[in-house]
Amino acid sequence: MQKLSKDPKHIAIIMDGNGRWAKKRGLPRIEGHKKGIETVEEIIRAAVEQKIEVLTFYAFSLENWKRPSSEVQGLMRLLKKFLIEKRELLKEKNIHLISIGERERLPKAVQKELSKTEELSKNNKGLILNIALSYGSRQEIISAVKKIAEDIQKKKVKINKINERLFSKYLYTKELPDPDLLIRTSGELRLSNFLLWQISYSELYFTPKFWPDFQKSDFLEAIADFKKRNRRFGGLSVEENN
Ligand code: FPP
Repeated sequence: MQKLSKDPKHIAIIMDGNGRWAKKRGLPRIEGHKKGIETVEEIIRAAVEQKIEVLTFYAFSLENWKRPSSEVQGLMRLLKKFLIEKRELLKEKNIHLISIGERERLPKAVQKELSKTEELSKNNKGLILNIALSYGSRQEIISAVKKIAEDIQKKKVKINKINERLFSKYLYTKELPDPDLLIRTSGELRLSNFLLWQISYSELYFTPKFWPDFQKSDFLEAIADFKKRNRRFGGLSVEENN
């Protein structure tokens, strides 16, 4: 008999395909992002219902800064609006919003609303909603290495004490469990510089659906698929050990 895995605690999502969704309809790309925000809300509500502990969205990568400034500005406007308008939802559903990434690169107005939303929701004890903004995993790892090197110089850390646990404490995600499940939409089969350290043992789930078409039923299907997987973390399954 197959051993069923536990429920996922942390689900991370690469929301891809907004641009192609819009193009297919002859719409400007920003319309895809707008529809994508509606999907974000639907999936947040579903995650709360499923009692997921942490939900991480890859909303804006460091590479995304290279997009035309009109698209970057449009995304920043949508993000600011999201951070203001969803405060009610965070309160109603007891959600704590946090963010990872190089926030100092975000426009001041976005930084301000982000800090305010984090502050307003910081005592909420339900879902942790983590938004990766201006985020890149290799850069996060390099920044961790630099901070550890500084602490070695200051004699706060001994070289022989560096291990996975200690290293993890220097990442943006230091307070979070690693993702159990990573979902990527739009049929692309790559990780795009997202949480490379943290997803070492995550289960990966790819769907051809564009993000704006992704629905609660798709999210539930991904969770059901996860539960059927036999997670071994490099060891043997329970059956094989017996
Ligand atoms: C990928 O689609 C999506 C993005 C780069 C942005 C995602 C952002 C949102 C849905 C809005 C903000 C999110 C939150 C959580 C507030 P793409 O533009 O790369 O699509 P394409 O590959 O089809 O061009």
